[in-house]
Amino acid sequence: MPGIQSNGLDNSFPVIPALTTRILIAINHFLLAYNTMSTPLKDALARTQSLISQATIFVVDDNAFFRIGLREVLRKAGYLVVEAENGERALKKMETNTPDLIISDISMPVMDGYAFFKAVRENPEWVGIPFIFLTAYNTQGDIIEGKKLGVEDYLTKPIDYSELLITVQAKLARFRELKLLQLQFAYEASLTMLANAIEVRDSYTRGHVERVTAYAETVAKSLQWSQEEINILRFGAILHDIGKIQIRDEILHKPGPLTPEEREEIETHPIVGAQMLAGIPFLEKVAPIVRHHHERWDGQGYPDGLSGEEIPMAARIVTLVDTFDAITTTRPYRVARSPEVARAELAKNAGTMLDPHLVEAFLQLCKTGAIETIARQWRNEAP
Ligand SMILES: [Fe+2]
Repeated sequence: MPGIQSNGLDNSFPVIPALTTRILIAINHFLLAYNTMSTPLKDALARTQSLISQATIFVVDDNAFFRIGLREVLRKAGYLVVEAENGERALKKMETNTPDLIISDISMPVMDGYAFFKAVRENPEWVGIPFIFLTAYNTQGDIIEGKKLGVEDYLTKPIDYSELLITVQAKLARFRELKLLQLQFAYEASLTMLANAIEVRDSYTRGHVERVTAYAETVAKSLQWSQEEINILRFGAILHDIGKIQIRDEILHKPGPLTPEEREEIETHPIVGAQMLAGIPFLEKVAPIVRHHHERWDGQGYPDGLSGEEIPMAARIVTLVDTFDAITTTRPYRVARSPEVARAELAKNAGTMLDPHLVEAFLQLCKTGAIETIARQWRNEAP
């Protein structure tokens, strides 16, 4: 890897040719959609985070006296309560007010608890809502019938209110965890799609985003990082080259060496990428990874010339795995080299370009076969 000097950057970009303009328009459309998506996503996140304290609970029972008792206990615990006297009335109310949890009697006129449960589960928007059945007696018949439908939770009348509150809280906490996971998967899928939009411009780097993300995650796991740290690292790995949307095709695809001006242009991509993420609160911690993924351990990298541990560790991991992938895949300027050559190259650059401790950890992982497995899974499909 040649030593790369930090350049004095300005914010002006060269005139963009027609083909690149078309690609940029397509990517901008995606970005627009992505930005529009962030508002409902934020709302959903806020709603999810307030689930436990502000959750809406539907109490469905034909016995008004019993409903009032439940309502008072749940309201005192801080929940919002909506009452309905049977399944049909509850379904009507759910059209305008989605519950976070349902507590329902089984035996009710008009629509009983089983029919109500089935109707709730048939609606894709309501399929994950926690549902607790109330049984008048702890009869095996009720429970067996409910289990056939997939009901997991029962409370037996007369209700032990402490048990009720513990069950409700546990169900809401689990529901919240699941919602957060779903949101994260949705976010990650969108961002991978966006990063792949950049890759489409350059078939030589096909699979690059997926490989670099998987390598980075494997390194972080071997260092016993927390799941939250790994999630931030994954987003950083997915988005590390997002700033390349500003780079002209003829530079990105140039088979020969770059001129100083061309190199200066390509070296803007970490700053452009970090700026693109600056307005997205969810990605606040990811921007430094994108900005610093071309810094070097010896301080000779770009854009800020940081050195050693000044460089965020997540960025150092992305630099390492990005380098390994660059060596082992075919690029416009050279063909792919073997993993053995790549490992020797990493060892040679430990302490100059790369963090020597991370290189050591990575070489250990190579010995276990973990890196080769990822490489095989996301094989470079370049011609
Ligand atoms: Fe890069």
